[in-house]
Amino acid sequence: MVGESREDIAVIVEGVVKIYESRGERVVALREVGLAVARGEVLAIMGPSGSGKTTLLNIIAGIDRPNAGRVVVDGFEVSGAGEEELRRFRLERVGYVFQQHNLIPTLTAWRTYYSPCPWREGPAGAAASSYSRRWGSRGRRAGILRS
Ligand SMILES: Nc1ncnc2c1ncn2[C@@H]1O[C@H](COP(=O)(O)OP(=O)(O)OP(=O)(O)O)[C@@H](O)[C@H]1O
Ligand SMILES: [Mg+2]
Repeated sequence: MVGESREDIAVIVEGVVKIYESRGERVVALREVGLAVARGEVLAIMGPSGSGKTTLLNIIAGIDRPNAGRVVVDGFEVSGAGEEELRRFRLERVGYVFQQHNLIPTLTAWRTYYSPCPWREGPAGAAASSYSRRWGSRGRRAGILRS
């Protein structure tokens, strides 16, 4: 990362702390975590179960909030954002493959994937619609998806 400008950095995490407290128990899941991810870089976060990988990803994706620290994704201040800004950020900027499938049982896989697309605007919406059309028809031809 040395010598790269701020514009080349897609994700900045600085001094992130996450503490879970429930029923008198206090778990420090992240203790002053910092990292920077360059644009186009592929990063694998590895560690034993319970080391805080999901917690960190949730905080970077704007799903959960840290107790302290700063997260910036592509120039967007995730850690300082309000709920509405975060909703748009998640809709337009975040792609997330969960550990569980999280499919909506009453919908087909195709409908589950396509369901947020109408709310997407601009290039993200156009790309989502184009991908879903392309993969939807391929999926149906391959017999993986129903329309
Ligand atoms: N909602 C929660 N309430 C209380 N403690 C939590 C909560 N979520 C996570 N933790 C605790 O925070 C720590 C980090 O958990 P996390 O799920 O981020 O780990 P992980 O590295 O993703 O684990 P795994 O490899 O099993 O998915 C663990 O000690 C976990 O028990
Ligand atoms: Mg996990």
